[in-house]
Amino acid sequence: MIEIQNLHKSFGPTKVLTGAALTLEDGEILTVIGKSGVGKSVLIKSIIGLIEPDSGRIIIDGFDVTNFSESRFNEDIRPSISFVFQGGALWDSMTVGANIDLALKIQKGLDERERKVRIEESLRLVDLGGVENIYPEELSGGMLKRASIARAIATRPKYLLYDEPTTGLDPILSNVIDELILRLNGELGITSLIISHDISGTEKISNRVALLHDGKIVLTCDTKDMWYQDNDIFNEFINGKVVYSEG
Ligand SMILES: Nc1ncnc2c1ncn2[C@@H]1O[C@H](COP(=O)(O)OP(=O)(O)O)[C@@H](O)[C@H]1O
Ligand SMILES: [Mg+2]
Repeated sequence: MIEIQNLHKSFGPTKVLTGAALTLEDGEILTVIGKSGVGKSVLIKSIIGLIEPDSGRIIIDGFDVTNFSESRFNEDIRPSISFVFQGGALWDSMTVGANIDLALKIQKGLDERERKVRIEESLRLVDLGGVENIYPEELSGGMLKRASIARAIATRPKYLLYDEPTTGLDPILSNVIDELILRLNGELGITSLIISHDISGTEKISNRVALLHDGKIVLTCDTKDMWYQDNDIFNEFINGKVVYSEG
C-alpha cells in the first residue's frame, strides 16, 4: 500500500500541491485524472523520490519514506517500484535489450545469464518477443511504449506508476496499452497507479479514479460509480467540459 498524506509542493511562487492525499491499495489499478499542468506528474514523481515535497508524508508498505536518504530509498524502496515515463524515454544510443539491462543492473543480484532471461521474458510479456537487438528509433510509437513498459516490469516491481501511458497514441494503440496494463495487473499482480486524460480508457481498466484539482485530490471513487458522483468539478471533467492543452 502507498499512502500519500497532506502533500505540499511549490515551485517558487507557484503552489502546485496544497494538501494532496491518496491511498493506493495493493492489487488495484487507480487512475489519477486532472487537467494539464495541475500537478499530476509532480504527484507521481514525489512518490519515487524524483521530486522532494515541501511537506506531507509518503508511506510505502508501512515505511515513511518522506525523509529517507537517497541511498536508503534506492536500497529499500526502489526495487518495488517502477515508473513508465510520459515520453517512454529509452536511450536511443542503445538497443532495446541494453536499455532493459541497464534497469536490471541497478538491481543487484542477477548475473548476466539471468538478466538475459529477464529481458526476453519482459519483452514477451508485452508482445515484443525478439526485439532486444533493435534500436529504439526503429520501433513505432506503440512498440516504443510497450518497450518502455517491458523495461519497467523487468525488475519485477510490486508497484508500477504510469505517467500518461496513452497520451499521443491513436485510439487503437491506446486500447492495446490499456489491455496491456490490465493484463500485467492480472498476470503479474502489479499494483498500478496511472495518470491519464483518457476517461474511456480509465473507465475500462481502473478499479478506482481520483481527481486532482487545485492542489488536492478532490474526489476518489470506484470507477463503476464514476457517472453518479455529486461533485460538479469531477462531473465536468469526466464529461469533457474542461478545456485543457496537451501536456
Ligand atoms: N521541476 C520543476 N520546476 C519548476 N516547475 C515545475 C517543475 N515540475 C513541474 N513544475 C510546474 O508544476 C506544475 C505542474 O506540473 P505537472 O505536474 O507536470 O502537471 P501535469 O498535471 O500536466 O502533469 C506546472 O505549473 C509546472 O510548470
Ligand atoms: Mg504530466
